Amino acid sequence: MTRIGIYPGSFDPITRGHEDLIRRALTFADKVIVAVAVNVAKQPLFTLDERVALISQAVNDPKVEVRSFDGLLADFARGAGAAVIVRGLRAVSDFEYEFQMALMNRNLAPGVETVFLVPAFDLTYLSSSLVREVARFGGDVSQLVHPAVRQALKKKFAR
Ligand code: PNS
Repeated sequence: MTRIGIYPGSFDPITRGHEDLIRRALTFADKVIVAVAVNVAKQPLFTLDERVALISQAVNDPKVEVRSFDGLLADFARGAGAAVIVRGLRAVSDFEYEFQMALMNRNLAPGVETVFLVPAFDLTYLSSSLVREVARFGGDVSQLVHPAVRQALKKKFAR
């Protein structure tokens, strides 16, 4: 039996923190589906296609599949035959929202467990929004994202 883990998010854009979590998820999942949400509340910097393409470039592993999903994560997870939903917990501030989401997802898809992973210590401060902010003002993000993402950010913010 293949144990499938779903790693959902906006990935606007994927960071080294996300990459770290995917690697960690592969220690207990046979396959990880990186599930890129179509419906993100805020207007994303990168289009859905761009976000999917950047993830595929940053994570080149046959055990990782990149897919987009619209609607409820619980429905997508069930449809994909996932055993677990993987989320990262960086700080206490993440906890309340993540806890609520995990309970709601369990309510909607009782067979799918949510697993929280702790990122590498030196990536704990990292978020896509901070990366976007640093890149917008010309800061160096080379330690924070894959080179393909750095290039894409540079292009987005070219003046
Ligand atoms: O990277 P993010 O923005 O923290 O990811 C949040 C995401 C996309 C995982 C979450 O908003 C989500 O699952 N959206 C899909 C719609 C849904 O299922 N909402 C109810 C969650 S209980």
